[in-house]
Amino acid sequence: MNKVKLYTILIFLTIYHFVHGQNKLFIPDTLSGSVINLHLQKGHHAFFNNYQTATLGANGNILGPTLILRKGDDVKINVNNQIGETTTLHWHGLHVAPENDGGPHTPIINESTWSPTFEIKNRASTCWYHPHLHHKTNEHVTKGISGVIIIRDEIEKKLALPRTYGADDFPLVIQTKDFDSSFEIITQSNHDDILMVNATIEPFLEVPSQVVRCRIVNGASQRAFNLGLNNDQDFYQIATDGGLLPKPFKTKRLLIAPGERVEILIDFKDMTGQTVHLLSYASELPSGIYGATNAGMVAMMTLDGYNPNPLNGKNFKILSFNIIHQTQNPIVNIPNSLVEKESINENLSNITRTLTFSPMAMGMNQLNGDFTINNASFDMDVINYEIPLNNIEIWELRNQSAISHPFHIHDIQFNILSRNGQTPPPNEQGLKDVVLVRPGETVRFITKFETFSNPHVPYMFHCHLLPHEDGGMMGQFIVTDRVSKTKDDKFNKTEKLKIWPNPATNMIEIIHEEEIEVYDQVMICDTQGKIVYKKLHTLSPKQNIKVDILQWPSGGYFIKIGNSTFSEAASFIKK
Ligand code: C2O
Ligand code: CU
Repeated sequence: MNKVKLYTILIFLTIYHFVHGQNKLFIPDTLSGSVINLHLQKGHHAFFNNYQTATLGANGNILGPTLILRKGDDVKINVNNQIGETTTLHWHGLHVAPENDGGPHTPIINESTWSPTFEIKNRASTCWYHPHLHHKTNEHVTKGISGVIIIRDEIEKKLALPRTYGADDFPLVIQTKDFDSSFEIITQSNHDDILMVNATIEPFLEVPSQVVRCRIVNGASQRAFNLGLNNDQDFYQIATDGGLLPKPFKTKRLLIAPGERVEILIDFKDMTGQTVHLLSYASELPSGIYGATNAGMVAMMTLDGYNPNPLNGKNFKILSFNIIHQTQNPIVNIPNSLVEKESINENLSNITRTLTFSPMAMGMNQLNGDFTINNASFDMDVINYEIPLNNIEIWELRNQSAISHPFHIHDIQFNILSRNGQTPPPNEQGLKDVVLVRPGETVRFITKFETFSNPHVPYMFHCHLLPHEDGGMMGQFIVTDRVSKTKDDKFNKTEKLKIWPNPATNMIEIIHEEEIEVYDQVMICDTQGKIVYKKLHTLSPKQNIKVDILQWPSGGYFIKIGNSTFSEAASFIKK
């Protein structure tokens, strides 16, 4: 980061405030129903007046529509990729089968469509979606693709809560980005000095003078926010990542780390005409959190490009609420209670797994990463855990690095059991899928791996600081079901997948008889389980895949093809 650039932006922003005033907060459109079409595309967005910045978005130039889904409904989402390169789209927080989850093993090739179909199993909650291609997550998210998912259910419906989208119920995706001197997004940077909500810089939002609900997503690559209101007014957290709390949690501050979601209620009753600002009280952040003056525990530890930055360790404005007249049938009270507490008894756990976070290299430069989990870096071909379906597990996260890591796990929601042996505060006792683990801290959570199993497609767990994730601070697990495993083997023997010739010498043809048309991964392993071939193919009816095997050592080989609707295996001999 050079100073000239910093000053250009600061001067620019100063002029910007005086000349243009503030910007109306962008509220994304909504999509719902049983078929949802998302088009991932390139675009341009005017973050700064008169400058068109190159972006990525879903169904538009930046971000994506808010998906409003109902528990129990079946939905098919057609994700069409037109961004010019491969990506994936992950439903962060949703309990879906691994092949529908949109992780790094489910690439969507440019100019193709991926159509996962699934039932919404989550409780009413705020989730989100974003790309998840290994090594590319930060780039694709920072350039603009992400969107909010609102899940509704019958229990939430009966509560007297604001839920009119864009009227008293607002999605707020908070992000920070770094721009170069021509106002293009720098996708790998520790100098994210421009704050935005729903891609709007210096935003204001008109809110009615009543109880208002904000669904806040921390969509930043690395920065944590310490939310509070400038008038020192109390507000109420009503939901964590996985849904509603037993009762509203009254507070003046709320720390939200990357990947996390909170729903809050703010009471603006009798305040028509006033303006209240949502701030990040970053000056109160302790060392060791990205966003504080010192991202590491020790002031001398360096993170390239981090300081100076007007957002580090200083309080700053996130959003201005301009309070206007009430709506019809306003919600004017904060409810006393919300939902029944759901948690798993610790004694029921089958296993405790320990995950230790450490820097790859020790020393003063360790903040720059990479970081490892149990001394290992992510490997697409290594399954870190095989978890039996319906296992109840305790995961113990130990952070032995000098910076906080928001740990995220796919598939499930968990309950935090303890932080350094202490019961977590009430607002962390709800269902979660991300937890911030501070330097030196040990966090334990409990969860059950239910409903979905697939021996071929893994789920991810990782740090949600996107440079850490892309840098390999990630692992994967498969959930296996003994019963369906045998089913699976039988299925393979029906021989929908044929290899010809067998035995073979120079070339094999993989013949697929099903009436399907999908893109999927064809994987060939030797008898040791070593992957010798892995490629995406279009599998269309009766269209054969040819693989050149001339140079391969003789022996047995195993072919696996897996996707959302089927997964099959066959074997052949190389002479
Ligand atoms: Cu929000 Cu694995 O990601
Ligand atoms: Cu991390």
